[in-house]
Amino acid sequence: MTIRILSAIGDPDAARAVSSLLHQLPDAEPAPAVADSAALLDALARAAAQGDGTPSAGGPSAVEALPEVVVVHERIGPAPALELIREVALRFPAVGVVLITADAGPALFSAAMDAGARGVVGLPLGYEELAARVQAAAQWAAGVRVHLGGGAEAAPGPAGTLVTVTGAKGGVGTTVTAVHLALAARAAGRSVALVDLDLQSGDVASYLDVQFRRSIVDLAGIQDISVRVLQDAVHDHHTGLGLLLAPEEGERGEEVDDRAARQILGALRSRYEVVLVDCGSQMQSANAAAVELAETALLVTTPDVVAVRAAKRQVRLWDRLQIRKAEDTTTVVNRLTRNTEIQPPLVAKATGTQVARTHVPAAFKELQPCVDAGRMQDLDNRSTVKQALCALAAELALVESPAARQGRGSHRARPTLTGRKRKAIAAGAASGPGTVPGPVSGPASGSGSGSGGRFAGRRGPAATGGTGPFDPAGPYEEG
Ligand SMILES: Nc1ncnc2c1ncn2[C@@H]1O[C@H](COP(=O)(O)OP(=O)(O)OP(=O)(O)O)[C@@H](O)[C@H]1O
Ligand SMILES: [Mg+2]
Repeated sequence: MTIRILSAIGDPDAARAVSSLLHQLPDAEPAPAVADSAALLDALARAAAQGDGTPSAGGPSAVEALPEVVVVHERIGPAPALELIREVALRFPAVGVVLITADAGPALFSAAMDAGARGVVGLPLGYEELAARVQAAAQWAAGVRVHLGGGAEAAPGPAGTLVTVTGAKGGVGTTVTAVHLALAARAAGRSVALVDLDLQSGDVASYLDVQFRRSIVDLAGIQDISVRVLQDAVHDHHTGLGLLLAPEEGERGEEVDDRAARQILGALRSRYEVVLVDCGSQMQSANAAAVELAETALLVTTPDVVAVRAAKRQVRLWDRLQIRKAEDTTTVVNRLTRNTEIQPPLVAKATGTQVARTHVPAAFKELQPCVDAGRMQDLDNRSTVKQALCALAAELALVESPAARQGRGSHRARPTLTGRKRKAIAAGAASGPGTVPGPVSGPASGSGSGSGGRFAGRRGPAATGGTGPFDPAGPYEEG
């Protein structure tokens, strides 16, 4: 196996020393070293772009065009070495990174591995150690490429999965759901960004005890969002979540239009494996764009008439404006109690959406202390709400690695919002005759990550689970 190696080493003497050792490696093809972190990322991005992902046309795919191994010297700049490694690992997951450092102690070793390195080589350099680490990293990279299907269908970098959480109406538990899904994905080892797109009244910061003056508005006017600009706007929360908060001044939310939202979400997806978006319950062009782009769009409702009707309204609005089809939406029933008359099958019937298999119980006492302290992250593992939301994260495959998810082909391309839709949302087009086809036959299982199917007309008879006097489908049902 030929091992293509790219080194990032600032000091010319060190670069020469590494290069001469690498040239002794059998089957190695070391490229001339680059001198800083930006040059390394540029070179990798260029290589990925050269492989255009069309092996059928005879060319290499994006992954195949990348070097198998990247060697990073600890004194690289301007980005610190570990940060650079994290960046490479996230954007080019099929590249094995080896760190060269004078401090090869256990603490740095763990930090390097946490950042995504595949090996650490101590200074002063020895041929044996360098050869062993580079070969191990190359073997690992080859394994990843096989896993990605020989690189044929692999994307040039990670395309993090985008999940939106929207409330049928205010107060149904949208933010609690978004926060705990994010924490669950993070606890499973995923890199996670949580975005507060409830632009006028976002309270992610309040739930996670954060005071941070930057917000999503800081990214709104920027055409080309670089890694550094994104980093400045994202708050690195101690739970490991990257938080992009709503503005403190709600009126500034207007600065984030759908184009800005698309750009920001795209930038986040190239950096995080999972991007969770709290869309609140008021549709504006930015959160509508997010719902449209999302692999999984969750709609949170509580099991009561008013909320389920609101859910139905929301679904119909999305349908009218061609943002999302009912069957591509997954409803989450929050605060479910056994004795409520409206059970999940009825919610499925009323909304025409899939309903997540996992429902979230009502447990006010469990949540109250954490809500009062503004520290949702402290919710006890025994909490039934936390357990349900962890189960929901698993149901939605948010705990899986991107490679596993990619293998199941869950990504969908979606068109951009048309001017008509933008205007309609700006004008608050929340009412009018619905066009959603009739009820579905009970709750569907699965992640909601999309059949990608077209409207298929009315489906079979509904399994309603019993419609009592509180039938939320009632007044809105088409004849
Ligand atoms: N499963 C649950 N059991 C009990 N209380 C819950 C549950 N889920 C959410 N809550 C409580 O409901 C309240 C509203 O939750 P949350 O802020 O998540 O809702 P929201 O839909 O985001 O509201 P808003 O419209 O204000 O953004 C909070 O006090 C929260 O603790
Ligand atoms: Mg909220």
